[in-house]
Amino acid sequence: MNIIEAQNLTYKYPDGTKALDDIDFSVEKGSITAIIGQNGAGKSTLLLHLNATLRPANGAVYLENKPFAYDNKGLHLIRRKVAMVFQNPDDQLLAPTVRQDVAFGPKNLKLADAQIKQRVDEALRLVGMEAYADKPPHFLSGGQKKRVAIAGVIAMKPEIMVLDEPTAGLDPQGCTEIIDILDELNAEGKTIIFSTHDVDLAAKWANNIYVLHEGRIKRHGSPSQIFADHTMISETGLKLPGFVQTFRELKLRGISGGESPLTMLNFVESVSKPFDVLKVRCAIASTDVYSGETVGLVMKNGTLCTTRVDDDPKSVTSVFGTVIFEARAGEDIVVGEITGILSPKTGVIHIVPIPRVIEGGSRAVDLGTICRIIAGQSPDKIGAMGTSAKVVVKKAGIKCDFEVDVIQSSILAALRGLNVMVFATGGMVDRVIQKIESNNKQGGQHIKYLRVS
Ligand SMILES: Nc1ncnc2c1ncn2[C@@H]1O[C@H](COP(=O)(O)OP(=O)(O)O)[C@@H](O)[C@H]1O
Ligand SMILES: [Mg+2]
Repeated sequence: MNIIEAQNLTYKYPDGTKALDDIDFSVEKGSITAIIGQNGAGKSTLLLHLNATLRPANGAVYLENKPFAYDNKGLHLIRRKVAMVFQNPDDQLLAPTVRQDVAFGPKNLKLADAQIKQRVDEALRLVGMEAYADKPPHFLSGGQKKRVAIAGVIAMKPEIMVLDEPTAGLDPQGCTEIIDILDELNAEGKTIIFSTHDVDLAAKWANNIYVLHEGRIKRHGSPSQIFADHTMISETGLKLPGFVQTFRELKLRGISGGESPLTMLNFVESVSKPFDVLKVRCAIASTDVYSGETVGLVMKNGTLCTTRVDDDPKSVTSVFGTVIFEARAGEDIVVGEITGILSPKTGVIHIVPIPRVIEGGSRAVDLGTICRIIAGQSPDKIGAMGTSAKVVVKKAGIKCDFEVDVIQSSILAALRGLNVMVFATGGMVDRVIQKIESNNKQGGQHIKYLRVS
């Protein structure tokens, strides 16, 4: 079902600038939609129509198939269901303290004081800003301000979150943290619409992409459809995601194959099959090796390593090769004339569900049990997804290897033969499982997973 939709939307600013020209735009409930386009393409203007900040000159916007009504009652309904996070948090954060700011929306919804307090606490906890509740927003860093602005929107419990360039101006860590929070909200069922010119983000995160150019929709489709059209991407002043560029170069050389990748994981898969037959591999020398020596090759802790032929290699590996340069133990080497196929045994992903903040979060978890689960499996890598899971891991004093891009990093590690344990909050559990299953279906190496309860 389309939760929000625009038809034949045209908009002119009062000075005569035609910012949008006959836009058709629709978003499915529960999806993540990206609007990409260069500066001045009309992204912000389009987003401002979705919560009725701007009103179309022509055409119409529909919420759940009903045209927007711009009277007081209509606007109240729209603003309750569609919440907007502006590009610049300074345009949004106006109250003297963080807490008052986050309470602003719920107050407008005329909720009771106790309910407002509960919503504000919950929202601040979800974005990890409860410790800053009594600070003035202008003392915060860019990333912290953005989190508070998002908390203000969460506190209104909207169905649709519209975010104008949510990652602009943030450092890479801040950027992934914000996306992680939004991803958790999406897993809980919120529809997300955002604008960006970060094509890598749109490629890996969005379900649907609209390309906007000079006020018109140039194209819409899935990320793979959008980034398969290289000409359109360059005509609209955008660039291809980094992986797609690398993939194209490798494909031209006959190393990569298949469809254009959209993530690191897809990219690794696109080269992994031809790699099995490549005659040269990089590895780590386990012992000193000399040029011309025949060595066995094994995967150890997720890395390809040599093993001495005279150490009864048949019991360890059926893959052999010849060392090209001499090297000392621990150094990188190149091995040629490889016989046998290298397909490392994949690791197992253990998924440990953690209750969401509103289900008690980390307080509902027994840390002793968590430590016992880890001791029982002794995973090679540990990941945490979602606010509660991250808090649990921190409280238990566990070193966490993956806190961002957790699903992809876990699958990549499992493909290298490592065992991974992922602590996942609420709806993120299903998301991990879906991703592993879809990866397994795509015909790569099969990864086993277990849900620990
Ligand atoms: N308040 C305004 N008055 C006049 N023109 C504007 C205003 N805001 C934006 N524009 C113009 O509308 C077009 C689309 O702008 P905008 O929606 O901000 O693009 P984007 O968000 O993609 O960078 C641009 O040509 C911009 O200069
Ligand atoms: Mg803009």
